[in-house]
Amino acid sequence: MLKRNLKRKITKQELSMLPRAFDIVGNIAIINLPRELRRKEKLVAQEILKLKNIETVVNKIGGITGKLRRTPYKVVSGKKTFETMHKENNCRMKMDISKVYFSPRLASDRLDIAKQVKKNEKILVMFAGILPYTLVIARNSKAKEIYAIEINKSAAKYALENIKLNKVDNVVFIRGDVKKVIPSFKRKGMKFDRIVMPRPQIRDTFLKYAFSVAKKGTIIHFHDFLKEEEIPVVAEGRIRQEAFYAKRKVKILRCKKTGEIAPYKYRVRVDFQVL
Ligand SMILES: C[S@@+](CC[C@H](N)C(=O)[O-])C[C@H]1O[C@@H](n2cnc3c(N)ncnc32)[C@H](O)[C@@H]1O
Repeated sequence: MLKRNLKRKITKQELSMLPRAFDIVGNIAIINLPRELRRKEKLVAQEILKLKNIETVVNKIGGITGKLRRTPYKVVSGKKTFETMHKENNCRMKMDISKVYFSPRLASDRLDIAKQVKKNEKILVMFAGILPYTLVIARNSKAKEIYAIEINKSAAKYALENIKLNKVDNVVFIRGDVKKVIPSFKRKGMKFDRIVMPRPQIRDTFLKYAFSVAKKGTIIHFHDFLKEEEIPVVAEGRIRQEAFYAKRKVKILRCKKTGEIAPYKYRVRVDFQVL
């Protein structure tokens, strides 16, 4: 529909360069236009602003960077704000998209995990962000307690706000580095039934921290970033190697693609059980 409306405003060649889709987070539409289309970004944005519920159109002006996984954006049209309220899986999530990581494309991954949760489980969510995984689990399962850890100060501010907004009383949020927080859990003898690892795309697998608070039977949901030909062997290899170092045995349950992050490169989720 966007292409149809732009037909008379930009050239055929420009039309062919338009991305196939764009993300919507709350009232914000996020476009990612190629450099050649920068001169036409206002035209494109104004057309998107006509869509229902869109108040701001931003253009992605760089890649996701650093361990906080933030993305630089520029407001192209509409209300000049990066803050919005996103609704997903029966949850409301407030955030500033320029200060935190959030992907609306992971909605079904979150619900898929929530559906696996059994009554009274004690869960750990590492790299919790503004709490999308935590809240979707809290509001769509009968988990007993969910511990969530996140290092980013801005994400932590929204996480605490989102706990109140969603009226959940079984979430314990801790702002900090999983490398420091999890050893403190271990010292207290804390163990979890399920560990969710929507980890940043950096070299560290953080699996040794997960193993340190896992018991017999713990299910771990591990995100990895792989080329088509590496699925699932590379992720499974990493898990088996870390399990060996931690002197644990594991059983791989499933490996699912949860989205394309670059041409021929995917985010995958491997679910495995500690035996
Ligand atoms: C890929 S994002 C996932 C965020 C959130 N779970 C989501 O799906 O929207 C990874 C998150 O891990 C956080 N992070 C990175 N290193 C961390 C660490 N050592 N300890 C705690 N959080 C960390 C980042 O700030 C970021 O919010």
